Amino acid sequence: MGAARKYAVIDPATGKLDRRLFSEQAIYDDEMEKIFGRAWLMIGHESLVPAADDFFHTYMGEDPVILTRDGRGRLHGLLNMCRHRGNRVVRCDDGNAKRFICTYHGWTYRNDGALEYVPGESEAYYDALDRPSLGLIEARVETYAGIVFATWAKDAPSLEAYLGDARWYLDTVFNRRDGGMQALGPMKWLEPVNWKTLVDNCSDNYHVPTSHLASARVQTRYLGRPRLSHEDQFASPNRHTFVNGHGVTFRDADDNTPRYVHGMSSETMRLFQEYHDATMPEVERRLGTFRARRVQLGNHSIFPNGILGLRLALPRGPLKTEFWHFVLLDRDMPEDLKRVVRIGSQANNGAAGMFEQDDVDNWRQVTAASTSRFGRRHPQDLSMGVGQAGPHPDYPGLVSERYISENNQRLFYRRWEEFMNAESWAEIPLDPITARFDGTATLRG
Ligand code: FES
Ligand SMILES: [Fe+2]
Repeated sequence: MGAARKYAVIDPATGKLDRRLFSEQAIYDDEMEKIFGRAWLMIGHESLVPAADDFFHTYMGEDPVILTRDGRGRLHGLLNMCRHRGNRVVRCDDGNAKRFICTYHGWTYRNDGALEYVPGESEAYYDALDRPSLGLIEARVETYAGIVFATWAKDAPSLEAYLGDARWYLDTVFNRRDGGMQALGPMKWLEPVNWKTLVDNCSDNYHVPTSHLASARVQTRYLGRPRLSHEDQFASPNRHTFVNGHGVTFRDADDNTPRYVHGMSSETMRLFQEYHDATMPEVERRLGTFRARRVQLGNHSIFPNGILGLRLALPRGPLKTEFWHFVLLDRDMPEDLKRVVRIGSQANNGAAGMFEQDDVDNWRQVTAASTSRFGRRHPQDLSMGVGQAGPHPDYPGLVSERYISENNQRLFYRRWEEFMNAESWAEIPLDPITARFDGTATLRG
C-alpha cells in the first residue's frame, strides 16, 4: 500500500480490538467516505418497484437515494438532491411518477435522472444553462436475485465479483425459486448503537444461549421448538465461513427438514414440510443437489451493512443506527405459509421481535462502553478460535473449524481496515470466485 497504514484496529494474532471505532466521530466520517462511499450497498429489492415509473426512497449510508424504475423498465439509483441548491426532489417513501419536481424553484427531473425542464431557461438563464450535465447524481446499480445494490465508486468491481463465493451460500435462500422473492416492508426504527455492533453480531452464535435464553424457552414451551443449550451450540455441526467481508453461518443439512425458521412451530411444521417437499425438485434444478439438499444458510452479513437477509443497518452517526427490517418471501409460496413466515419474522426480529430486543440491549452497552473515557483504553477481546480456520474441500471461503468462533468477526474488522486504509478500489483485495455454481440459477435470478 502506498500511503501509511492509518488504521490498525484488530490484532489478528490476539483478537484485541480497539473500541474507539465504535464511537469516534472522525473515524465515522472516514467510514462514510471510505466504506459507504465505495462499497456495493444493498438499497432495496426489485419487488419494491415492480412497475414502470415506480420509485422507492432509500439510503446509501446517510445519503438519501431514490430507487426508480424508468419507463423502459431500467433501474436507477439517484441521489435525492436537486442540482440547483440541493432540495430533496422526493419527500415520500414510495410512489409512481414519471417526473420529480423540485419544490424550491421547480427544476424538473425525469425518473432516469435527466434534468428535463428549468423554469425561465431562456429568460433567466439566457439559454446558457448546461442542462445535460445537471441531471440527478446517479449511482451504479446492479441486482442479485432481485436484491438491488448500488455504489458511488466508478472503479468498483462488478457486484458478482464483490459478492464472490458468498453467493454460493446466499443462493440457498435468495435464489431458490424460479419466481424469485418479494420484499414486504420496511419496518424502520432508531437505536443508540454503532452500526458495526450488529453486523459483527451476525456471526456471533456464542451469545445465543445466554442472550436469548428466555426467548428460546418461550419458543420451546409454546412453539414446540427444541431446547437450546450451550452444549448444543458448542457441539453444533453448523459452520462459519468468510468471503470478501461477508460473514456467513450455515448448516450442513443432511436431513430433509424445511428451510424456513421464522414461523415454524409444531402447529405449522406440516405447511413448511409440504412446501419443502413440493419445491425441492425445482430447487435442485436451480442450485444443484449438494446446495439444494445439504446447505442451509444461517445468520449472515453482507459487507458493509446488510444483515440477516434484506435488513439494513443505516448509520446515523457513530452512536446511532436506523434499522430497516424487510420480510423476504418466495413470491410463489402459498398464501397461508407467507402469512406464517411474515408473522414469525416479526415475532423474532423487527422493533417488537423478541430476539431483536435481547440483541439490541447488548449492542447498546457495547456502544456505550466505547464512549467510556477509561474503558475505551482497554480493547475488546475477540480471541476465540484464533488460528482455527482455513480452506475446506466442500465449502468455499475461509471456514472456521467450529461453529462457535470469532473468526468471522476478526475478519470483518480486517476487511474494515482494508477499506479504510485503501486510497482506491485498486488497493482493496478480492478473493477470486472458485466455488462451483451448479444448477441454472444465475446472479440475476
Ligand atoms: S433547489 Fe431545486 S430548483 Fe432550486
Ligand atoms: Fe441474537
